[in-house]
Amino acid sequence: MSANDLLAAIADVGADRTRGGYARHGYDAAELELRTWFVEEAARRDLDIEVDRNGNIWAWWGAPGPNAVLTGSHLDSVPGGGAFDGPLGVACALDAVDKLRERGFSPARPLAVVVFAEEEGGRFGVPCLGSRLLTGAIDPARAAALTDPAGITLAEAMGKAGVNPDHIGRDEQALARIGCFVELHVEQGRALDKLPGTPAIAVATSILAHGRWRFTLRGQGNHAGTTEIAERADPMLPAAATVLAARRAAASVAGARATVGRLIPTPGGTNVIASSVDFWLDARSPSTSDTRAVVADITAAARDAASAEGCELEVTEESYGDTVVFDSKLRDDLTALLGDVPQLPTGAGHDAGILAASVPTAMLFVRNPTGISHAPAEYAEIGDRIAGTAALVRTL
Ligand code: GLV
Ligand code: MN
Ligand code: MN
Repeated sequence: MSANDLLAAIADVGADRTRGGYARHGYDAAELELRTWFVEEAARRDLDIEVDRNGNIWAWWGAPGPNAVLTGSHLDSVPGGGAFDGPLGVACALDAVDKLRERGFSPARPLAVVVFAEEEGGRFGVPCLGSRLLTGAIDPARAAALTDPAGITLAEAMGKAGVNPDHIGRDEQALARIGCFVELHVEQGRALDKLPGTPAIAVATSILAHGRWRFTLRGQGNHAGTTEIAERADPMLPAAATVLAARRAAASVAGARATVGRLIPTPGGTNVIASSVDFWLDARSPSTSDTRAVVADITAAARDAASAEGCELEVTEESYGDTVVFDSKLRDDLTALLGDVPQLPTGAGHDAGILAASVPTAMLFVRNPTGISHAPAEYAEIGDRIAGTAALVRTL
């Protein structure tokens, strides 16, 4: 079955009819359906399924063992996400197994297609939970206690999905088997489409240093009609000032980005001055020092605005990842193997970025003609999906 057919088969799973795009979040009904779909597709190919201690699914071609070549991606989405971020890498990997089999190829090293759990952090807040747990990049007790918006913990969600949360954490045995990991992914900008000849495939060079911070502003809940302006402690005011400060701070540092994409006023009434506002800052730049400086700048602006309005501010770092530079030998070998394809940096986070700290890791990008990602307009043309599979076939 081609990558196109595989993607078509899951096109309706988790489609968000209200907000558009997909709502497929770690261990929710849609993601569990996709995990089941993946297990069935792997079984259809006689791949041996293993769910590791951290909820990642491995489909083995050959006995699990050292020096394994790993490929795959994730099946969850951001809220309102596109159809390709994650699933393209999984579909092309299964397609590549089929194409290799058709050629009579038999792997000299163990080969596995992997699906990482909760890559986007769309449900429990911290991205790349499956790969962070696998590599020890997050404290297992902290991960287990993370909650979704309904107050369900990761431990509860994993337990319900049949993954025992008592055993999560760095998995030396699983890591020791990986010789290298290559994640194929839709490009999340329009760099390839802008290049002469619009090449279908690129090899990744690096990932921005990035993280997430939760800002909580507390004021005085009150009546929208009876409370004089001078008497208010309205946390929405410093929240708004911080959103503007984020844009200003990022614009003043080369290559930096800062985004507030989620803001929750409590209790949230049209005629109610909020008693508190929570919002999340996503900040990135090429270096840790610049990313930290941008966040410090935004935090200082939030503090000033909070004090001017008589509100309290609390800031919590929820996740952080330093700049990732992918394995240079693997990167250059793949670039040459695939016919001197372009090399591109990315501003997006990936499980490959987490694994890169532990094993040689590379990424392949597939052209996205819209340049849009984390939104329904994300796209990879059918011919480029085929090129993605072909590149993975060569790579594997
Ligand atoms: C995930 O795609 C991210 O970059 O946040
Ligand atoms: Mn993503
Ligand atoms: Mn992704």
